[in-house]
Parts: sequence; structure tokens; C-alpha cells
Amino acid sequence: AADEEVVGTVKDQLAKLFEESLRVTVPDQTDTDPLIAACNPRFGDYQCNNAMSLWTKIKGTGSAFTGPQPVGQAIMTNLPRSEMIESCSIAGPGFVNVKLSRQWIAKSIQKMLIKGIETWSPKLRVKRAVVDFSSPNIAKEMHVGHLRSTIIGDTLARMLEFSNVEVLRRNHVGDWGTQVSISVCLRVCMHIYVSVYLFVSSDLACINIIAFYKASKQRFDSDPGFKERAQQAVVSLQGGKEKYRKAWSQICEISRKGYEKVYQRLGIVLEEKGESFYNPYIPGVLEELGKKGLIEESEGARVIFIEGKKYPFIVVKSDGGFNYASTDLTALWYRLNEEKAEWMIYVTDVGQREHFEMLFTAAKRAGWLPPGDNSYPKANHVGFGLVLGEDGKRFRTRSTEVVKLVDLLDEAKSRCKAALVERGKAEEWTEEELEQTAEAVGYGAVKYADLKNNRLTNYTFNFDQMLNDQGNTAVYLLYAHARICSIIRKSGKDVEELKKTGALVLEHPNERALGLHLLQFAEIVEEACTNLLPNVLCEYLYNLSGHFTTFYTNCQTSPNRWCCQSLVAFVLWGQRRRQADSCCVKRLQRSCGN
Ligand code: ARG
Repeated sequence: AADEEVVGTVKDQLAKLFEESLRVTVPDQTDTDPLIAACNPRFGDYQCNNAMSLWTKIKGTGSAFTGPQPVGQAIMTNLPRSEMIESCSIAGPGFVNVKLSRQWIAKSIQKMLIKGIETWSPKLRVKRAVVDFSSPNIAKEMHVGHLRSTIIGDTLARMLEFSNVEVLRRNHVGDWGTQVSISVCLRVCMHIYVSVYLFVSSDLACINIIAFYKASKQRFDSDPGFKERAQQAVVSLQGGKEKYRKAWSQICEISRKGYEKVYQRLGIVLEEKGESFYNPYIPGVLEELGKKGLIEESEGARVIFIEGKKYPFIVVKSDGGFNYASTDLTALWYRLNEEKAEWMIYVTDVGQREHFEMLFTAAKRAGWLPPGDNSYPKANHVGFGLVLGEDGKRFRTRSTEVVKLVDLLDEAKSRCKAALVERGKAEEWTEEELEQTAEAVGYGAVKYADLKNNRLTNYTFNFDQMLNDQGNTAVYLLYAHARICSIIRKSGKDVEELKKTGALVLEHPNERALGLHLLQFAEIVEEACTNLLPNVLCEYLYNLSGHFTTFYTNCQTSPNRWCCQSLVAFVLWGQRRRQADSCCVKRLQRSCGN
């Protein structure tokens, strides 16, 4: 029966009811979409906000209504009967407040439990998206900015995947020397590397690429002859000369090994399609843009003028070379036309906002993207702020160098391990168990600390804070989860059995609050995806564990106490976790003493 099917978020389901009501209330306003929002809990759970705007549309048209409030009243009266709704009321100028029925909440959670949380995944309008994230630069160390991009990008990808969007996770590695600084680096590295490779001809896979880059850069800046030879090396590379190509691909390979270690540690999956990948397509794309009349000549360079911008978007440099912009225009074209993506998401620091604004405007002018920002295909820049040190300044090490990402992960892990040892875990656990737990908690803490703030704000990196088990941290959430699992375990009940037989009754207000919060999961994921804000999901999870704790403390005699809500929480948190996480959870449970 239709009743058995999953029908979208709570909001979606309410919207359906209000749609019907609106159709009856104002039959000639057929294009009115219901405006449903969560509301102040004093008045209800949700509200419908259509009365005001409808009133402004119909007043003076001979309508029988005398103001927004009667319109709201009629919307309320015309609502079809539904087991979803316990009661309705009118507030202010026609807001219709809705209180959901406890039985319906309970029944819905039970369905979610039986059929799986994924049957509640939100329905987004896109089928395929590109998330362009991490994207470090060859021959340079990944820094804390790349950490943010990696963490935020991976989280967005996961949320979209949960929402049944096919995500192309793209690592747009800077491997082609398109940005000025990168090109310098590549040229230099290339030159030295090539000469060493050719003349020494030894296996250089083990060289320290970063030190190599630094030394090269110094020489590049101080030795004009060297500089010239380096520049020549780039021309040869771009011209496709075999031995230069070979040297270049070896440099890339060495760098790649470095990032892959980081990705492995963080559990990140992504596919490298670096800048060089798009190189063969650039001339064709520029030709198309030229034909469309977008490209003009300016001071020897070929550019696209963008309204409201001080500088044009340079697509071919005055020396005839391609750059970051030419590659990005081409990558956008490729993603749209070859990969058929409907949503392109770029995760970089806010410093690159201007670049992406120009890129997207150019794509709109070319007719690749529709005008405006609300239709598909669409492109978004997901910018993020700086990581700050304790001093409130850009996060640096004592030697004022950029902070290396691997060092941060190492420290997070070793601090966690020390804390576990201090709690006597070294005697209880094997070394491997200790290691794995320290990694799961340590890396989780780093990720969560990054995600929980609005990405646009700068955030202060603080190990003590992120590893605290009391505040809004990953450690706190992991412990809460472990505790819930152990409640279930201690109940001695069979989880599968419980799902089917453990009927839910939401008597106590705290039970109801927890139940409603659980049902809102899909809505929150949808909001986080639509606005590209992972912190919305963090806030939800933190509140979820708060609701659980309140329920657990206040509902000692509830028949559901050991069973259903904790089970639901378990499912919510537990189901989609990776295998590795789940054994760590078991260990954490033991460490909770439950
Ligand atoms: N490699 C660039 C950097 O390190 C980020 C690339 C972002 N992606 C893109 N399509 N432009 O800043």
C-alpha cells in the first residue's frame, strides 16, 4: 500500500497535505508551493507560512477573504485529515502551526528502523555531481588548507552519496605548472630533476621531493642561467619531449605517494584527474569560446572581460601559455559535456572566490550554465576560512613554516594513545587495538573540529579542545555512541527481534523530543547538502546525543528505556560506519566500563 512506501522528509510529507489544502483554499492560485518550516517548539513542530504572501496576491481581486489571518484559518480548515497531525493552531498573521501526532512519530521511526535509515535519504534534484576537493600541488607539501579541503569535500561527497547522488570525487592536482608559483616550482624541479636523472641516471624515487623543491627554488631565484634552463625544460615538457615527460611523471608519482598516505589515514577515496588531464582539450574549448565572441585581446594576452571585475579573466597568457583559468574552464566544460555532471562543487579556501566567480560567469556567458543560481546544471564554490594558531594568527610552526598535515595527524594520534595508556588500556588491549583506537579517535577529532564550525569562519586549531571528551567534540560523540551500543548489548535482546516486536510508545515529552529529532535526520542532510554546510549535520548529531542523554536520564521507567530509542540512535550512527570504525567502537564500549 502507498502507506508502506517511504515518502520523503517530514517537511515533504507535510507539504503534500498543505498542497491539497491550498488547492481548495485558493483554487485560482495553482502555482503556490507550500512554505513549510520548523517552528518554535512552544507553538508546535512545524508551520505553514503561505497565508501572508497569498493575501498580498489575492487582495483587491474580489476575493472573499478579509486579511491574512482568515486565509490562514481557511488553510487550516481545509487541511485533509491525516494521522500525521495531532493538532493545528493559528498564530500571528495567519501562520498555521502543526503539532505532529506521537503515534505517527513512533510508527515512522519503527518503519525507519525496519527498512533502514537509507530509505529516509532526501531526494535531491541532481543525479550526478562532481566534488572537486583536496587538490594539492605536485612537489609541494600538503598543508593545513588542503586538510580543510579534504575533510569538507569528503563530507559533502558522503552526504550527497547518502542522498543517492552519484558523486565523481575529483582530485584536481596542480601538476601542470599553471599557477605562477606552481609553474616556477615545476620548472625548477623539472630542470634539476631532469638533469640529475639524465646524468646520474640513478633511481630517484626515494629523493625528498620537498627539500628538492626548496633547493631548486633558491637556485632558480639566484641563478639566471639556471632559471633560463629551467624555463626551457618546461617548453620541452609541454612540447611532449619523451625524456622530460618521463621525468615529470616520476615527480608526480613521488608526490602522489605522499598524498595517498594521508588519504589512507583519513579514509578518503578520490580520483586524480589533475590539471594535465585537461591539457589536450584546452585548444578546442578556447576555440568554442572564441567563436562565441567571449575572448578578446588585451596586452598580448587573451582574456574574457567580466562585468564588475577589475581585472579580466586571463585564459591565454601573453607568452601563449595556458594557466589555471584555461584549465578550469576546460575542466568545467569536460565535467558538463563528457561526464554529464549536473552539479559542480569546488572546495578551496575563500581566497579563490574571485577566480571561481569569474569562471562561473564565463560559463554562463558561454551558455554552458543557465543564468541565475537556482537552476541546473549549476556550479558552486565552497570556500572555507583560515586555520588559526593559538595566537589568533595563521597557523604556523615555530620555524614559521606552514604546518605539515602529516605532523598534525601524528600528534592527534599520539595524544589519543597517551590518554588511553593513562587510563590503563595498555594492560587490557593489544598494541594493535591501542593503535587503531587512537587513530579512529584522533583523526575523527581533527575532522570534527574542522566540520563543526561554519566553514566560512576561520577556526583555531587546538588539540586540547578537540580531544576533550566533554564538549562538542568527536570524542564526546564516539563515547555517546559507544554507550548506547552497550545499553543495547546489556539488555541481552536480539536487535533484529527488537526492531520487529519492540513497539514504540512516546509517552514522556523527552521521548517525543528524541523521536521527532530522529525523524528529522533526512531533512537535516537535505539542508546540509543544499547549502553545502556540513556544520548543520554536526549540530544535529550533537543535539541528538543531547536528546538521548536527557531521555536516558529522565525516562528511567519508560518501557522503551533499554530498547527502542537507543536502538534507533544506534542505527543512525552505526549503520553507515566503516568496518574499521565498528571494531573501534567495540573497544570504546569496553573502555566506558559498560
Ligand atoms: N591546486 C589548487 C590549490 O592548491 C586547488 C585546485 C582547486 N580546484 C580547481 N578546480 N581549481 O590551491
